[in-house]
Amino acid sequence: MLGIETSCDETAAAVVDGGTTIVSSVVSSQVDLHARYGGVVPELAGRAHVELLTPVVADALAQAGSDETGRGIDAVAVTHGPGLVGSLLVGVAEAKALALAWGVPFIGVNHLEGHLFASLLEQPDLGWPLVVLLVSGGHTLLVEVTAPGTYRLLGQTIDDAAGEAFDKVARFLGLGYPGGPAIDVAAEAGDPAAFDFPRSLVAEGYDFSFSGLKTSVVNTVRQHPEATTEDVAASFRQAVVDVLVVKARRAAAAVGATAICLAGGVAANSLLRRRVEEACAEDGLRAFLPSRSLCTDNAAMIAAAGWWQLQRHPGGSALDLGADPNLRLPDVGRAETGLTAPEAAAAG
Ligand code: KG4
Ligand code: ZN
Repeated sequence: MLGIETSCDETAAAVVDGGTTIVSSVVSSQVDLHARYGGVVPELAGRAHVELLTPVVADALAQAGSDETGRGIDAVAVTHGPGLVGSLLVGVAEAKALALAWGVPFIGVNHLEGHLFASLLEQPDLGWPLVVLLVSGGHTLLVEVTAPGTYRLLGQTIDDAAGEAFDKVARFLGLGYPGGPAIDVAAEAGDPAAFDFPRSLVAEGYDFSFSGLKTSVVNTVRQHPEATTEDVAASFRQAVVDVLVVKARRAAAAVGATAICLAGGVAANSLLRRRVEEACAEDGLRAFLPSRSLCTDNAAMIAAAGWWQLQRHPGGSALDLGADPNLRLPDVGRAETGLTAPEAAAAG
């Protein structure tokens, strides 16, 4: 399976065998291109994908012992949403062209499903059900995976994503972009109890909210100009991680999960990794913390998700499938009603 990922600022291609074995994986990051703007600039991202995708795909094919004839490739999977529409279109067009030229199925993959499958690339025997905490710059989701393709969305952020909160606070503290890694380093040298930042919604359900925390950091720093960056970073990181871990743990107990998996860029956070491991050890669960290259955007996870999708829907997706910037995770809770989300809302 050739996988292609262009939903945001990584141009990636990978070849994966049988849904679990990575044969090649190439990721070309555009982070330097966007750093001076303090975030991803959609138009620049789309143009960079146009330039980078063909060589990145050629590289992934060559490393897998294939070439532009598609020798040995049985299907092409691509992220078709959610993400930046101009960026998604570049990958979708390339995947359709290759699938047509090679006479193999084309499979449109949901980027969020890709993140959920990343764990299986390193740990194929994870077992079900499991709870995945997907925390990235764009998403914060708590998902129960009962089997490949069967997901129940337990909770999500009602405002900022966890990574977005890290990036905004880092920017305010003058730590640069992307801010998560810089906060993580500064926090290791600070006192996590220096400031008691709010743990929004901690006692309620599985949804998250981080915008109040960000405002609280700004107000606190203005009131305490003497506060060190390390203490602010440590207290902020502690507040984010406390809420993430409490909710993931509660969710795992509620659904009888065998494991808690992390996914997304914030899964690289050292405190989050330590705390999830400790919580799982205490609760008798497996903790699965994928390596950083599988947490951040990559095409191996898209190929893996595509492989599982092809088992369920032989033949793949229709060639008129488009890019969908607002694509949601297929949710059994919602699917059972037979209504799409807006219809369900309208029906009360
Ligand atoms: O998954 P990802 O690479 O891209 C998407 O957003 O899809 O996630 C990037 C996010 C950024 O917000 C970055 O600041 C955050 O992950 N991040 C971290 C750490 N490393 C990356 N956040 C906290 N601690 C880290 N060590
Ligand atoms: Zn992602």
